[in-house]
Amino acid sequence: MKRHSPAVRPMPTFSSCQTRMPTARSAPPLVLTLCLGLSLGVTWPTGARAGDEGGHHSPFEGQPLLTLMHNMQYYGHKLGLAIDAGNRDLQGFYIHEVEEVIEAVSKIESYDGIAIPTLLSSTLKPAFEALEAAIEIGDQDKISARYDNLLEGCNGCHQGANRPYIVIERNHDNPYPQSFAVKP
Ligand code: HEC
Repeated sequence: MKRHSPAVRPMPTFSSCQTRMPTARSAPPLVLTLCLGLSLGVTWPTGARAGDEGGHHSPFEGQPLLTLMHNMQYYGHKLGLAIDAGNRDLQGFYIHEVEEVIEAVSKIESYDGIAIPTLLSSTLKPAFEALEAAIEIGDQDKISARYDNLLEGCNGCHQGANRPYIVIERNHDNPYPQSFAVKP
């Protein structure tokens, strides 16, 4: 699904921010704020789109695994709230964000001695693909069940990565200043 590309600037890597820091002394504080914000994985609306396929630049590319996990949890939670609300447009938006995070995770070949792409393919990826297919069709009961499977996929990877103590569970509460309801 390429429908909802996030409107963001290309993501500078940590190192590009760090190399800029010393020279930013004379620059306005906004530069620092922007740099920090982007480092933390905040998406920055610009209205401009990097374009599709060839020109498309993932906002998550190059982020360290831990930062990708923040994004995984954030967009994964919002996806769950869109599913709770039966909001198909929002489901389409957030499944795409989760997909982009997964793609960025798959580029990390090894982390702490763990082969990330192999573990990803045996845990989260099949669950993600099943959920994505259900969202395209729109059967809300099936979508909800497959979302539960997705979270099992998260935990499967955490177990495989020697982190059984990181347990993801479905959370139906909305802590965001955002409505997930279908627009009338
Ligand atoms: C490919 C394996 C893999 C998959 C799939 C995966 N994780 Fe993780 N996750 C990790 C690893 C490894 C860590 C520990 C990172 C570290 O030690 O720096 C982690 C850490 C975390 C953390 C703790 C860090 C934090 O931000 O609090 C959360 C939360 C998390 N993952 C959420 C998720 C969610 C939600 C999903 C599924 C939508 C998911 N993860 C899928 C491997 C994975």
